[in-house]
Amino acid sequence: MSEDFLSLAKQRRTIYALGKTLPIAEDQVINLIKEAVKQAPSAFNSQSSRILILLGEEHNKLWELTREQLRKRVPAENFQATSDKIDGFAAAAGSVLFFEDQEVVKTLQAQFAAYAEHFPAWSEHSTGIAQYAVWVALAEQGIGANLQHYNPLIDEDVQRTWNVPASWKLRGQMNFGAINAPAGEKTYIDDDKRFIIAK
Ligand SMILES: Cc1cc2nc3c(=O)[nH]c(=O)nc-3n(C[C@H](O)[C@H](O)[C@H](O)COP(=O)(O)O)c2cc1C
Repeated sequence: MSEDFLSLAKQRRTIYALGKTLPIAEDQVINLIKEAVKQAPSAFNSQSSRILILLGEEHNKLWELTREQLRKRVPAENFQATSDKIDGFAAAAGSVLFFEDQEVVKTLQAQFAAYAEHFPAWSEHSTGIAQYAVWVALAEQGIGANLQHYNPLIDEDVQRTWNVPASWKLRGQMNFGAINAPAGEKTYIDDDKRFIIAK
């Protein structure tokens, strides 16, 4: 297990081959996700991120409803490949659904008019930070994860199935579970394209 941040950052990868057996208890995973999100920063400490954690049958339900939405849209000749991909996600132990509460965004816009135009973007930054925090926290426990975006296709089903408030806007779905196969190779563009250092 990694102890320093950069080792941990390298350990966090997109893992598609996920299984149901978690290396720690479900309650520990739930607490880990909650704490990672709570410790993540947000604009004005607005804490706009909202989370739905699905485990066991509830996780399977997410991918069944996604499959049914895709069935309506994907051409029949391509559907098998799509359905196989969904099987892979359903094979994970659970999922974390990340939302941003639009009520919080609206309230901030009314409260701090000078920054009004920035709050939607800052809310998007906040979910990204929360997603990364959860992804790294899971990696630290030897739990693999991948990040999916079937929103807005599944928004209504998710809202109805788990009684999610209408103001929660779905931003991403993170599957997590046992690491059944390692991540693929990762390539990097040249540093000189990405970084300017002045000193
Ligand atoms: C904002 C964002 C959106 C992503 N969307 C998807 C996605 O919809 N489906 C998917 O399989 N991976 C998605 N990924 C994962 C990236 O493909 C992956 O992080 C990238 O290839 C680098 O690989 P790594 O995660 O192993 O470092 C997303 C990642 C980010 C940061």
